[in-house]
Amino acid sequence: MMSRLMVLGSGGREHAIIWSLSRENRGHELYCAPGNPGTALLGANLPVDLSDAASVLALCREHNIDAVIVGPEAPLVNGLVDDLTAAGQSVLGPTKSAARLEGSKLYAREFMAAAGIPHPRYHACHTIDEARTAAEQEGLPVVLKADGLAAGKGVVIATTGAELEQALQRFYITRDFGAAGSSLSIEQCLTGTEMSIFALCDGENYTVLGTAQDYKRAFDGDRGPNTGGMGAISPSPLATPEMMNQIDALVLKPTMAELKKRGIVYRGFLYIGVMLVKGIPYVIEYNVRLGDPETQVVLPLIDMPLSELVDSALAGQLPPAVALKPLSSICVVMAVKGYPEGYKKGLPITGFDDIIDGDTHLHAGTRMTGSGLVSAGGRVLNIIATGSSLSVARKQVYERIGAVKFPGSFYRTDIGI
Ligand SMILES: Nc1ncnc2c1ncn2[C@@H]1O[C@H](COP(=O)(O)OP(=O)(O)O)[C@@H](O)[C@H]1O
Ligand SMILES: [Mg+2]
Repeated sequence: MMSRLMVLGSGGREHAIIWSLSRENRGHELYCAPGNPGTALLGANLPVDLSDAASVLALCREHNIDAVIVGPEAPLVNGLVDDLTAAGQSVLGPTKSAARLEGSKLYAREFMAAAGIPHPRYHACHTIDEARTAAEQEGLPVVLKADGLAAGKGVVIATTGAELEQALQRFYITRDFGAAGSSLSIEQCLTGTEMSIFALCDGENYTVLGTAQDYKRAFDGDRGPNTGGMGAISPSPLATPEMMNQIDALVLKPTMAELKKRGIVYRGFLYIGVMLVKGIPYVIEYNVRLGDPETQVVLPLIDMPLSELVDSALAGQLPPAVALKPLSSICVVMAVKGYPEGYKKGLPITGFDDIIDGDTHLHAGTRMTGSGLVSAGGRVLNIIATGSSLSVARKQVYERIGAVKFPGSFYRTDIGI
């Protein structure tokens, strides 16, 4: 059925969502707010400030939107879904109280403890003295996590006393994270391998949409600073049927039961990061949305129209499972030298004649100018490929990336190895 759908956000994730909806060929009318030059090729971009619920609602009314899909976490944590729902707008995304699973790392840990979900030992700390005492009790290495949203920068793994002291100074003296870092989860540092699980929830039921492995460090060999994500593959090589059963029994089912117990109706995407330690999936974190760039690899493998999934989630009638294509997908992020710290903007991008093809290229931080496409962020483009195996997809993605150029670009050469 044709719908008028609006995706909120402006990154590669949102371009991937719009692309998936567009390729259903059901004549949907697609809107992206605020969107990027990639989403503008597939629908109408509507400039808006996502922290301003009244403006978002006015756009929905003006364009008669049937359903809104929220991309990023900040508007969810701020309660945008509550405001839109109260005004009668159909919207897919968790409410403010459900979004605390991502908005507060301490709330999430308390939730996991109450639900009996495997998680690292943690201490809730609200002052520098509490944090120092807890860290000393844990011993090195120790994990320090800002309680609030920190755009992927709020976690420090201190391996020496000096690193611990420096981190404490940043949280409590120079206050680099403001209020988000004034409470900390001080955690046992687990060692293991990580994977991400993506589910969709309809308030009652959930369906697993896929799994991914992401690459957070800036440089090859997992070196360099943490970033928003430099690449991803799907499915995760760790996602054996046995492990997925474990995750279902130890993580997903208890999460749903605990939500119910707390009277929280969760409707939207749920992305769970786990670390496997001796075969047990320990939850590292909840995210109350899809990942970027994980969405770019998860959506292409779902063998069902995304709009049907959205409709069924909104109607409380999710199918118990979705079929996945027996393929592998890969995404490599092209970034600007200096990212994630300082970097230039406005760099001209060339070699992108077929960039409109969302099967192969998705926009992240780009901007269209009178003289062509330029960079507008640290992560600029996502190059993607899908193949019968990871090595086939990998070969393809690195052939594609060679054709795209902008000054000072860099990307990891070891995604999917
Ligand atoms: N308790 C822990 N033990 C070991 N590593 C951790 C722990 N918590 C987080 N990490 C590492 O830090 C990364 C970021 O932590 P996460 O909780 O996912 O925060 P965010 O994604 O919001 O920055 C994780 O992907 C993981 O590699
Ligand atoms: Mg994370």
